[in-house]
Amino acid sequence: MATFVKTRDIPIAGAHTLPQEFFISPELFAQERERIFARRWVCIGRESKIASKGDYFLHTIGADSIIVLRDQSGEIRAHYNSCRHRGARMCETASGKFSETIQCPYHAWTYALDGRLVGAQTSDSIPGFDKKDFHLVSVAIASWEGFLFINQDPTPEPFEEAFASLLGRFERFNLPGLTVARTIEYDVKANWKLVFQNYSECYHCSPVHPQLTKITPSNSGENDLFEGPFLGGYMVMNEQHESLTMSGEACGVTVGELDEADMRRVYYYSIFPNMLLSLHPDYVMAHYITPVAPDRSLITCEWLFHPDSVRDETWDVEDGIAFWDLTNRQDWHVCEISQAGIQSRGYRPGPYSSRESLSVMFDREVLNALGRDGAGGGDID
Ligand code: FES
Ligand SMILES: [Fe+2]
Repeated sequence: MATFVKTRDIPIAGAHTLPQEFFISPELFAQERERIFARRWVCIGRESKIASKGDYFLHTIGADSIIVLRDQSGEIRAHYNSCRHRGARMCETASGKFSETIQCPYHAWTYALDGRLVGAQTSDSIPGFDKKDFHLVSVAIASWEGFLFINQDPTPEPFEEAFASLLGRFERFNLPGLTVARTIEYDVKANWKLVFQNYSECYHCSPVHPQLTKITPSNSGENDLFEGPFLGGYMVMNEQHESLTMSGEACGVTVGELDEADMRRVYYYSIFPNMLLSLHPDYVMAHYITPVAPDRSLITCEWLFHPDSVRDETWDVEDGIAFWDLTNRQDWHVCEISQAGIQSRGYRPGPYSSRESLSVMFDREVLNALGRDGAGGGDID
């Protein structure tokens, strides 16, 4: 999807795609789960899903089920969905509303929404038992621009530090004020990294996305984040088009306080390790990627609009949704054929072109996070 030809001087000469094991190995996938997905801030969707006290939803990653909720004092919280008595998964319904407590269905231990154990029948028969010792195990949670993030590291890097380069960056887009008009889940038979690598370049846009290339020529734009966990930049729309829609016209009111340059641009950012954020003048699209297996990823895509665009039926929000649903599917297809080809004994790491510098930088972030910089990264120098 994203572009970009005019990059700063990023030394990518000699960079090759990652070796096969990065896409097929269960051991490496387990390492990624531990060192990346259990240690970084991972986006789990919009805060509006838990707008009121008691609202919750379950977030599942690997063997972990996490209850994400808003407690009685209005705080957002996340707790592992494992009872402190004998470990039962307490909550089985994907989303809903708690009254004032969470009760385990097995022996009825009961927890306040802040995670405190408040009821445990006949526990006075357990020597030395103190309810205070059996708080639900909590997970760090943060909210940024209306998006929720969790970090499973018991001593996580503070969110404000990890996200320092993004804080305030998108303020003019009014992200917390936008409404989710559509959510589509895609089950993609490809490694999660292929999705990021694909998003990070527009070298593929002419052959894969004829509709997109008509509106934003694949050599337009510039990167403005080109190193580290957050990468991206913008592409420029042709004069005669207002947005990335099937019609080429705007499909909603402008999302925020955008200037003239913003009105002609589409911004694309990959937010390591699981979020893609695409900002158009009239809507914003967010992808959240959950790795399921080395060769399979679940991708949730949400389209966010100014509430007026959804209320006022003269706007055709479907025009933007249909555009990206089509483009998404084109992307997933090339990710899937990549996965299929890489799994073959005929695969060899191939050279990245100068138009794929952000894909190279993404790979470097993966290697860094795995503690494998310079090792096995296919000649990334
Ligand atoms: S396992 Fe939850 S109360 Fe026993
Ligand atoms: Fe694409």
